[in-house]
Amino acid sequence: MSDNQAIRRAAEIIKKGGIVAFPTETVYGLGADAFNPFAVARVFEVKKRPYFDPLIVHVTNPADVKKLAKETPSNAKKLIERFWPGPLTIVLLKKENIPDIVTAGLPTLAIRMPNHPMALALIKECECPIAAPSANPFGYLSPTTADHVRDQLGDQVDLIVDGGPCPVGVESTIVSFLEEKPMVLRHGGVSMEEIESIIGRVETSPFEDKPTAPGMLLKHYAPRTPIVLEWSEKNLGLYKDKNIGLLLFQEPQNNLKLHPMEVLSKKGDLREAAANLFAAIRRLDALNLDLIVATPIPEIGLGRAIMDRLRRAASKEE
Ligand code: TXA
Ligand code: MG
Repeated sequence: MSDNQAIRRAAEIIKKGGIVAFPTETVYGLGADAFNPFAVARVFEVKKRPYFDPLIVHVTNPADVKKLAKETPSNAKKLIERFWPGPLTIVLLKKENIPDIVTAGLPTLAIRMPNHPMALALIKECECPIAAPSANPFGYLSPTTADHVRDQLGDQVDLIVDGGPCPVGVESTIVSFLEEKPMVLRHGGVSMEEIESIIGRVETSPFEDKPTAPGMLLKHYAPRTPIVLEWSEKNLGLYKDKNIGLLLFQEPQNNLKLHPMEVLSKKGDLREAAANLFAAIRRLDALNLDLIVATPIPEIGLGRAIMDRLRRAASKEE
């Protein structure tokens, strides 16, 4: 099936109330017609996602925001202009036309325009906004290839559109405009530095705090294998009786080849590391290790999104 045929089939399925996994530049999404509450309910069911955790609605045109949200503050407009299409989600007060199941009953709506030709073509062809969470079982790592989706949700979805690996590799940055000061609810593919260069200082919700995005539970993005975030050569002695794998940011200085390892970016590039993150954790997770020991990543640029995912994956709290 050609890409065009796949998109046409996917659109037919979505129009009829089905659910389709599709690529975006961040991660694969599991999409349904945002105006069809029954189709959206199936997305929750298949993911085993709690109904208190709202979905992002995907659009193809910045002008669509007006149809879905009550008003767009000027700072939100500035970010849209600069970063759409792209890995930025904005949270605004919603209009009544979006079913409650999409927003988990909240008066607000998360919206984004993805920067992926197949995602954009699909939404256009459907002629409706697409509500889509990441296409993984709830609490697990987001998929960055069609195979990741196939492995975990396979026959439960009506179609998987294969667009190859996702170039960004971590989810979108979520910025809420409900308060006076814009607030970053989730670090992601657009860095804080980039956002602040356009609209000045923004608030963030610190990792320790009560989650502000309803879905930002502490234990999230978790593989089966426990992860600890305390890699140092000295610490490796602690695990000598364990079957461990290493998740390293850069190429190690000396010979650690005794352990299976994944290097996120040989040259220490944060974008490359983000793009490799989830697939690398999945490969380690498939090795039946006792433990994955990860290096901390510098918390600048996309490093913040990476560390956020690693901390949540490493968190012992449910
Ligand atoms: O990159 C992405 O954002 C991917 C691709 C598929 O677009 N989607 C994604 O969706 O990561 P999901 O459902 O896995 O994560 C969406 C996050 C959740 O933490 C959810 O709680 C939060 O967005 N969210 C959705 N609607 C919200 C709202 N109205 N207010 C606050 N947070 C919201
Ligand atoms: Mg998700």
